[in-house]
Amino acid sequence: MGIPRDYDDNPERYRRGMTASPGAPDLYALLAAELPDGAAVLDLGCAEGVLSHAVTARGSAPRLVVGLDRSATMLRAHPGPAVRGCVTALPFGDGSFDVVVAVNCLCHLGDPRPALREARRVLVEGGLFLAATIAHTDSPELAAVWRPARTAFDAEQAPELVRAVFPDVEIRPWDAPLVRLPDTRAVRDYLVARLMPPTEAEISARWVEVPLTVTKRGALILAR
Ligand SMILES: C[S@@+](CC[C@H](N)C(=O)[O-])C[C@H]1O[C@@H](n2cnc3c(N)ncnc32)[C@H](O)[C@@H]1O
Repeated sequence: MGIPRDYDDNPERYRRGMTASPGAPDLYALLAAELPDGAAVLDLGCAEGVLSHAVTARGSAPRLVVGLDRSATMLRAHPGPAVRGCVTALPFGDGSFDVVVAVNCLCHLGDPRPALREARRVLVEGGLFLAATIAHTDSPELAAVWRPARTAFDAEQAPELVRAVFPDVEIRPWDAPLVRLPDTRAVRDYLVARLMPPTEAEISARWVEVPLTVTKRGALILAR
């Protein structure tokens, strides 16, 4: 039930996805603001290092942001430090990090629970786990042509899974008309970024009335 991965053989799709939601607030800048000064941070599913870049741009002052990803292609563009690995078997000792971040990553797993236990293991006592994920009811205005794939870490289920591993959990949901798609081309790009094959996205986009405002639904989960 995890979302299929195409990061090694189709990195352009991920890159296009980073610009296909015009108007949405910069989640990575919000996350960078949550990172305490001097913290050692592990970014699970770091891809090309968008969080590391946000930390630099914002002037946040964690001591270290280490990326981890299973895609060699994504890691080639990461500014470093970063390691190749799987979130279910982290190559770090117990208590190595003050913060572990997982943005739109655990939705790729059929069972996110081993990765959550690994995140807790590598955190110091009282360390912060930050996860962001979208809801199954995201983008309802596009329901006639596209629905998000169900995953084991949708915003609807994720809080309960995180609570099973971390005693102290805060949920900050979002549900707001955040994205404005001005034309058919923008709708097509939005759909391709969400794993619709390009030809199908081209055809589907023609059925959508533009400009379109899209409601974004998901949750930021903060746990200790
Ligand atoms: C949707 S991207 C998110 C990337 C980045 N966190 C962001 O928000 O833009 C998901 C990333 O998770 C990585 N990934 C998926 N499953 C993984 C696993 N089991 N272990 C490590 N990385 C994984 C993918 O290679 C990809 O780079």
